[in-house]
Amino acid sequence: PGLPEKPYNISDKNSFAYVSARDRWPVILTQAVDDVFKHTSNSEDGIRKQEGSKIVAQIAQLKYELQHDRTITPLEDDGGDDIAGYNEELEKLGNPRWFDAPWLFAECYLYRRLNTFFANSKTWKTHDVFRVQKTNAFKSSRAAVLKLASQYRQIVSSLKESKEPTDTRETAETEKEIFTDMSKMCLWGNATDLSLLTTRASKDIQKLQENHSDQVYHVLKKQRDEGKVGRVDIVLDNSGFELFVDLVLGGYLLAAGFATEIIFHPKSLPWFVSDVLLGDFADLINALRDPVSYFDSPGNGYSPGGTEPETPLSDSEKSDLEFLFSEWSELHTQGKFLLRPNRFWTTAASYWRLPSAAPQLFEDLRQSELVIFKGDLNYRKLTADAAWDPTTSFPKAIGELGKVGSGVRILALRTCKADVVVGLGKGKDAELRSGDSEEMKRKWAWSGKWAVIQFWDGKL
Ligand code: F6P
Ligand code: MG
Repeated sequence: PGLPEKPYNISDKNSFAYVSARDRWPVILTQAVDDVFKHTSNSEDGIRKQEGSKIVAQIAQLKYELQHDRTITPLEDDGGDDIAGYNEELEKLGNPRWFDAPWLFAECYLYRRLNTFFANSKTWKTHDVFRVQKTNAFKSSRAAVLKLASQYRQIVSSLKESKEPTDTRETAETEKEIFTDMSKMCLWGNATDLSLLTTRASKDIQKLQENHSDQVYHVLKKQRDEGKVGRVDIVLDNSGFELFVDLVLGGYLLAAGFATEIIFHPKSLPWFVSDVLLGDFADLINALRDPVSYFDSPGNGYSPGGTEPETPLSDSEKSDLEFLFSEWSELHTQGKFLLRPNRFWTTAASYWRLPSAAPQLFEDLRQSELVIFKGDLNYRKLTADAAWDPTTSFPKAIGELGKVGSGVRILALRTCKADVVVGLGKGKDAELRSGDSEEMKRKWAWSGKWAVIQFWDGKL
């Protein structure tokens, strides 16, 4: 489908695309080299050592090509059925140089290329080059995890005790507030993103620009009132703390009777540093199974602020985490928490192409009552990462999916970490830009301090 607006390109020096390619990606690749190097020197296995050195050289080569603005080369075949698609796209784009390529394509290509090095080895096939970073970041979010664990336990326990959802006006209001809080909590869980930690620590507090969570509440409540509760899907973004809040939201939706099952969509290969792989899901559940050794182990923290080891977990903290572990393992066993990976999520395609490029996945998502897209990259893909006028409506910017009767109910929970943004009131973008010394740039939207909650009901 023809895009009315151009996708952001790395050649645009006013965009975050340019800054990303120039400043962030080299750092990310250097960290990947460090990781492989460390794992290589720890290994006793001769072949693994040899292959490790080769991978280090390949990553260094990739970094060289990027920094010297070479032509982006076709991906080497590693058996993945997505390789051909990447290479066809590259050709269609006219085999651009790095600093003249569409941002979305180049960034997806970067992570896919990195993965070919591992996939084409014998001993590193499943190595997750970002795993250590992800684990350390999760450990450093201990305080927030403990706080939410206790709140979750209270909310879910009281929902389980109250048998009937009483239908007075007041309780609906209270319920709507809880729903909104849950959505916001799940949204801001995205503000901690490892790929951005190369340029800043994302601790600052933020503001919500557009919030459609009331509409979503009413749709779900209506479904429940009419006895038509169904499944909710969460297209995951980052692991660790964000995955934790996604599980909190999922568990809440089940307990409140807004969903019968939650389907989580993780990635199939290490992606944008922090994204969830199946293994990260397992890591999180194991952390809850044994929180003392996970959160209390000495020298555990990646702590951007450099804090000292924390106090040991108290008995009530331990018991809250145990509650979470038993709840979530049970939901998993009962088939109410399901994981459903799909290679489409790690192609470079925007979701404008979802219906044609991944028809089965599209059909599957149409079976859902609500599909929640988490984070920045999902939003870029929803909107084709194009330079929309910021007042463009959300449904217009998401192409096919935004059509009446598309069959997919879409909720985007997005903290803004890139240039593209839609659904803003007239003049808002100018207002947010003004005061910035470099007004040509939409810097306010890069920081992760602003966010949008946008909804389109494709079942209308
Ligand atoms: O803007 C920085 C960036 O790395 C983008 O390239 C990418 O869209 C995003 O952050 C990743 O963030 P998230 O994990 O929220 O998708
Ligand atoms: Mg991510």
